[in-house]
Amino acid sequence: MKKEKLYLSALILLLLSFLTVGCEDDNGKSELPEKELPEEYYTGGKLGTAFNSTAFAYEQPTPVVEESPELLLQFKRGEDLFEHDFTTNTEGVRRGLGPVSVRNSCLTCHPGYGHGKRMDRYRSKDFGNSYLLVVTDANDAYISQLTGMPQTQAVAPYLPPIDESGIHIEWKNHTDEYGNTFPDGETYSLIYPEVTIDRSAFNVPAPDFYKVRLEATIGIYGTGLIDAIPDDSIIAQYQYEKSLGFTLNDAKYLPENFIREADGTAHPGRYTYGLTRGTLQNGPGANAIWNITNVTRSDRRYHYITTAYATAMSQNTNIQETLGKTGQEIYDDLMSKNLPVEMSDKDYIDFMVWHRGLAVPAARNLDDPVVKKGKEKFYEAGCAVCHRPSWTTGADNYSGDPMVAGKLPSYPNQKIWPYSDFLQHRLNMANDIRTGWCRTTPLWGRGLSEKCTGAGDHLHDMRARNYTEAIMWHGGDAQLAKEKYRRLSKEDRIALIKFLEAV
Ligand code: HEC
Ligand code: HEC
Repeated sequence: MKKEKLYLSALILLLLSFLTVGCEDDNGKSELPEKELPEEYYTGGKLGTAFNSTAFAYEQPTPVVEESPELLLQFKRGEDLFEHDFTTNTEGVRRGLGPVSVRNSCLTCHPGYGHGKRMDRYRSKDFGNSYLLVVTDANDAYISQLTGMPQTQAVAPYLPPIDESGIHIEWKNHTDEYGNTFPDGETYSLIYPEVTIDRSAFNVPAPDFYKVRLEATIGIYGTGLIDAIPDDSIIAQYQYEKSLGFTLNDAKYLPENFIREADGTAHPGRYTYGLTRGTLQNGPGANAIWNITNVTRSDRRYHYITTAYATAMSQNTNIQETLGKTGQEIYDDLMSKNLPVEMSDKDYIDFMVWHRGLAVPAARNLDDPVVKKGKEKFYEAGCAVCHRPSWTTGADNYSGDPMVAGKLPSYPNQKIWPYSDFLQHRLNMANDIRTGWCRTTPLWGRGLSEKCTGAGDHLHDMRARNYTEAIMWHGGDAQLAKEKYRRLSKEDRIALIKFLEAV
């Protein structure tokens, strides 16, 4: 079902029956394939796939949501919270932005719901700047003066922890071990970012040493399906790749290092490049709606803030005078654990319904002879070990967060096609991601990126401007696969990429 039709559908639930004229498409059936397709087309399984390859392909509800008028209305309301700016208002919808924030909305970082866009500068208000700053010490630990996702926005008279005019991104050329040339003479170019922050840009005490990296968004669609994969299956994949002799981030799979949830259960990571989140109910989206905007909710009546920041602001005489408060009062306000609630439980639940309700776009053109050939080459090169094609979801009845327990769409026993092992590898790139460990990025839906987001960049910091560059940045345990790709004929390399575009 197209997005515009979805708006209509939601309206119809509210309006009288005379409006039903011309809405025969609104049950979504018109978009379904006329005949049963091979299972690989159902990237999100029967319950989680949207047959839509328009510019709105990443924004569709799953069939589970579409079939429930209640869920569909909640999905619409949740979508609004994702797409639109939060404001500094103290009343009304989407209120409560600040006092410090990373962005005004999710969508500014997740343009078109996709995988971000390469940028030449870091400005939080530049639409599509999907970058998070990653500021760490010599041991790759986040520095304590800043939150893990450093803020560059503040509501006056407060100052942001980092003044973004002091952040600089420089794109450098890289020459690889093959002189950026395929055996048949075709060349490619590789670039990577070098990021610096002026010492004078810190409004908190600057650390003696710091280095800066960028992480771009990953994509939102399909995260509900990924959530439904059983923990055991992920652990089995880890053991399987161990048995192949791969170098893996073993510490992540020691049960004592699993991510502990509010309900006492513990889970291996499956989300984010850093594998820092194990469930959608305590996942990057559930956290971002609070920590990107600093909008409080009933279970989080405090700010995403550091003591270094609260101390620096409380000692600033200009802020004391403007607010007419003492330093102690300012510190206590900023660090309070008892702030007024800015987002209602209902809004939060609707947001989570939307989050878990997003479908994966169906695969396209898999029966095209070139795509079929590309698929063979993908398997032959060994890409499919890390970009594991399919998984089967479990009973999908996890209820870790009492606020949303039993209220979210679920996807039991579905065969899904994300093309990821949900494990981390070290691909050994110049200016690599923090720690070098990076989760294999799911490839599903990526071929629609240009259409849906206007950008077709890849990798954790968007350094690759196309699929070829993305592959040629692979190293470490992917070195052999890269070499196999490199030695393919030009025709086969093109075919392999056509396959990537189709999944
Ligand atoms: C500052 C830009 C920014 C904003 C704003 C932002 N995100 Fe993200 N998002 C990211 C980055 C960067 C990543 C990858 C981070 C990582 O791996 O640690 C990410 C990852 C995610 C993922 C994980 C996908 C996966 O496959 O693991 C989800 C889901 C997500 N964001 C949802 C949201 C939602 C929902 C919002 C709004 C509440 C939001 N994000 C706001 C930058 C942003
Ligand atoms: C050893 C595991 C491994 C193997 C083998 C591997 N990859 Fe990857 N791949 C990764 C990881 C990890 C990333 C994320 C790297 C990053 O963002 O820095 C990735 C990222 C990608 C991306 C970019 C995804 C995006 O949109 O950001 C593409 C495309 C890709 N791989 C294609 C391939 C192809 C084609 C092959 C076979 C020639 C292959 N990979 C082999 C681990 C692997």
